[in-house]
Amino acid sequence: MDFTSNKLLFFSMFWLVFHSPLVRCQLYYNFYDKTCPNLTQIVRENVWSAMTKETRIAASLLRLHFHDCFVIGCDASVLLDDTDTFKGEKNALPNKNSIRGFEVIDTIKAALEKACPSTVSCADTLTLAAREAVYLSKGPFWSVPLGRRDGTTASESEANNLPSPFEPLENITAKFISKGLEKKDVAILSGGHTFGFAQCFTFKPRLFDFDGSGKSDPELDASMLQNLQKLCPNQADSDTNLAPLDAVTTDTFDNMYYKNIVNKSGLLESDQALLGDNMTASLVNNYSKWPTLFFRDFAVSMEKMGRIGALTGQQGQIRTNCRALN
Ligand SMILES: *[C@@H]1O[C@H](CO)[C@@H](O)[C@H](O)[C@H]1NC(C)=O
Ligand SMILES: *[C@@H]1O[C@H](CO)[C@@H](O)[C@H](O)[C@H]1NC(C)=O
Ligand SMILES: *[C@@H]1O[C@H](CO)[C@@H](O)[C@H](O)[C@H]1NC(C)=O
Ligand SMILES: *[C@@H]1O[C@H](CO)[C@@H](O)[C@H](O)[C@H]1NC(C)=O
Ligand SMILES: *[C@@H]1O[C@H](CO)[C@@H](O)[C@H](O)[C@H]1NC(C)=O
Repeated sequence: MDFTSNKLLFFSMFWLVFHSPLVRCQLYYNFYDKTCPNLTQIVRENVWSAMTKETRIAASLLRLHFHDCFVIGCDASVLLDDTDTFKGEKNALPNKNSIRGFEVIDTIKAALEKACPSTVSCADTLTLAAREAVYLSKGPFWSVPLGRRDGTTASESEANNLPSPFEPLENITAKFISKGLEKKDVAILSGGHTFGFAQCFTFKPRLFDFDGSGKSDPELDASMLQNLQKLCPNQADSDTNLAPLDAVTTDTFDNMYYKNIVNKSGLLESDQALLGDNMTASLVNNYSKWPTLFFRDFAVSMEKMGRIGALTGQQGQIRTNCRALN
């Protein structure tokens, strides 16, 4: 190869490395190894401490990460507070009165600012907190690629368009696909409903007036129906009562979610709907039988979700306070 073609090769490689969208979104497992060596330990200790005060917070942190990644991308936009001139995502309908865990992120971030100032992004902090929440609830551990930066915008309208438990599987799947995920990921990430709680209004139509029938959902187990009707009487003031998403092992991250669905004991209509499609039903059956398969696939899907719209390099900023732009 002569000098000219070498040079050509060099420049085409340069172009590939610096202009391909994949590489621009590059994240690294060892991103903070030198700049914040105690990162994992700091996040883990603080998530654990929050869980000893309230076990439910683990599921809340996982949901917070999901609601971050599906709106603009995993850029910590969900953490931004509303101000007089700035509209955040916290008051969008899927978030208002249900999104939780901000104080935990604040506490972790404050500890990180002490240990390694202006280094770790809020987006990475939230991604790691979600991983710890799953792991410390006896779920899988996976390595989190890092190097996300924090966004400078938020979108209330995109937050209003988050996948909802009232939507059919096809609609939820379409939203996942629009984020670069697949139908399979709907079945896998829904497994996050193996811990935590949901407010009654998110499943009440199944108890009293399913699809306007005036009856309960035939796909809901009879004894579970009885229990839920007690917990969520047919009146508006029960709307915010809480029911466990997994009534059997409520605080543990395991494959019980899938066993429940097989038994007609999924809480949300969107949970039980996974049986209404051959592919997702096959996954539900497989995960109900093989917990390690679920753990492995969940880890893979979480990493995929964690890459949605990640800002890297010089994009965005490293917020010092996760609730506000620098
Ligand atoms: C990391 O934590 C250990 C013990 O918790 C501490 O001794 C050490 O100084 C910390 N290192 C850094 C770089 O903060
Ligand atoms: C599902 O998506 C279709 C097509 O976009 C839409 O017409 C329908 O209203 C959606 N259903 C729900 C319950 O959101
Ligand atoms: C599901 O139903 C089967 C058969 O009735 C039963 O053996 C199993 O214990 C049930 N599992 C759960 C999680 O309720
Ligand atoms: C799903 O499975 C049922 C029964 O096993 C079969 O009749 C049907 O054709 C399948 N549907 C699709 C879309 O594969
Ligand atoms: C479920 O497991 C069976 C048996 O290993 C496999 O043939 C099938 O493809 C799996 N289903 C899905 C959707 O991966």
